Amino acid sequence: MSTPIVVAIDGPAGSGKSSVSKAAARKLDFAYLDTGAAYRAVAWHVLNTGTNPEDEQAVIDSLEEFGYDIGTDPDNYYVKVNEIDITEAIREVRITDVVSKVAKIPVVRQYLGDLFRHIMASTTKPGIIAEGRDITTVVAPDAPARILLTASEEARMARRSAELPQQSQDQTASALRARDAADSRVSDFMTAADGVVTVDSTDFSYEQTIDAVVEVIRSRTS
Ligand code: CDP
Repeated sequence: MSTPIVVAIDGPAGSGKSSVSKAAARKLDFAYLDTGAAYRAVAWHVLNTGTNPEDEQAVIDSLEEFGYDIGTDPDNYYVKVNEIDITEAIREVRITDVVSKVAKIPVVRQYLGDLFRHIMASTTKPGIIAEGRDITTVVAPDAPARILLTASEEARMARRSAELPQQSQDQTASALRARDAADSRVSDFMTAADGVVTVDSTDFSYEQTIDAVVEVIRSRTS
């Protein structure tokens, strides 16, 4: 079996990276890896086991019982921990509110980074698109195609607000700003590293963004 082509996509919250990466994977018949889901799953596991997310050692210890499973087929996406399906639960605001706390712990990042590299290497598809915050820089810096997907703050807030009708626009905007600020202390996902192609989706429709991303992938991997 030949080594799968790895495509790395990073970007801030609301840039559309999850839906765009999934759609691009479908077009190319590639696998899709949502790395943010793993950080969210750790946050879910921490809360589910009554672990204090502020207690770094307790969070690290909780990884011993973290049986993680994620679907990498863009048409069969699921997230499980210890066989419990948490695909929907990890999107809850209570998870979003604590995820940055667990994501800043270096041992957690190392642990999940190793897991991502393992998942990427073992895909049976011709390639895999992995998206997150540090994929272009830390997890897969040697990937042949690396993309930073950005959008203006206004566009990102508007998109996230549309996904979360139960929250006011102000609540969504301030939570997003706070999370971006916390996350950017850990990874720089606002500026493209050397060799990383920026796709700015501010004035693009969803379809145009997918096409732009697929075009970069094709040009870098053919
Ligand atoms: O979709 P959204 O951008 O809201 O978030 P996500 O991709 O589901 O990621 C959730 C959280 O996981 C982020 O806020 C980061 O704290 C963390 N994360 C990370 O630290 N590194 C990654 N490669 C991916 C996510």
